[in-house]
Amino acid sequence: MLKTELYRVDAESGAIFARAGRILREGGLVAFPTETVYGLGANALDADAAKKIYAAKGRPSDNPLIVHIADRADAHKYAHLEGKAAEVFDKLAEAFWPGPLTIVLPKRECIPDTVTGGLDSVAIRLPSDENARRLIAAAGVPVAAPSANRSGKPSPTTAAHVMEDMDGRIDMILDGGSCTVGLESTIVSVAQDGALTLLRPGGITLEMFEALGLEIAVDPAVLRALGEGEKPLAPGMKYRHYAPDTPLVLVEGSDADFYAFLCREAKEKKTGALIFDEDIPHIRDFPLTFLSLGSRSADEEARNLFARLRQTDACGCDVFYARLPDRGGLGLAVWNRILKAAGYQTITLK
Ligand code: TXA
Ligand code: MG
Repeated sequence: MLKTELYRVDAESGAIFARAGRILREGGLVAFPTETVYGLGANALDADAAKKIYAAKGRPSDNPLIVHIADRADAHKYAHLEGKAAEVFDKLAEAFWPGPLTIVLPKRECIPDTVTGGLDSVAIRLPSDENARRLIAAAGVPVAAPSANRSGKPSPTTAAHVMEDMDGRIDMILDGGSCTVGLESTIVSVAQDGALTLLRPGGITLEMFEALGLEIAVDPAVLRALGEGEKPLAPGMKYRHYAPDTPLVLVEGSDADFYAFLCREAKEKKTGALIFDEDIPHIRDFPLTFLSLGSRSADEEARNLFARLRQTDACGCDVFYARLPDRGGLGLAVWNRILKAAGYQTITLK
């Protein structure tokens, strides 16, 4: 059992960043905030350090880690970038870095197989969060970091969530407050011929790639549950993520039908609902437990979803209901995560 140190950090925390950077260089584990979710960092050039991440999370070793950098030029140290692929990479980095975009590229030798789960590609991300970049710069090495949750739990969006999952298992947690996006980064792969594929939806949306004039294919794992023998391009997309023990069911229908449905269900079983602030006046008098995702927008839903999913089981309900989100813009990422949490169970009201 490790003693996990927890520090609140801001622009004044030079000494703490220096200490955290040293822990990373020396092979330890430090959890840190990013604009998407909290990451669990280790030196990406050190296979033994990366192994500690899998142990702390209870993560299957075939699920590769994202390599975080603080300087765009560093991508060339860890990935082969030539020809058409280099052109597309430059366009993406120029438009979306630093920010919630991870780019999968052919890997260079220096990145150990432990980090890439034996794949010949490496996933690289330059986060926009100042604390994240400061830590990576202080470490002086690239930082391999999955989300800082125990495997199977929702990704952490506060330091308290990380503490819940990782206390005693890692060296240090840096607390930079709540994450602004709230869902994990968008992942795209860039093939040698420059072809782009979306592997995981996130804060950088399909519409944003299209606005740049880039064509982008979508891996089927983003849009539906995969069948027996089908493999997602991002190995992590195959896992049943974020599912609470309390069954979660997604409901499609008008607001009025949704309220009427909740009213009927609440009379029959211990019912929970994930709703928005705007719904509260309409359901307040029903005998149900509700958790609000904030005011009604994809941004707010993304920001609050994981924190609310962490709270559902403690409510002691037989079932939780939530609306099926719209798939436009950031909605696609919310839709993808909430469907997984619901094990793809949906009801359409007529
Ligand atoms: O927002 C994020 O991306 C956060 C923060 C901490 O940066 N990190 C994160 O990491 O979500 P993780 O490990 O929870 O998810 C990484 C995903 C997994 O689905 C993994 O399979 C995929 O990235 N991945 C990593 N390397 C890959 C590669 N070389 N090819 C395809 N998929 C890859
Ligand atoms: Mg994760």
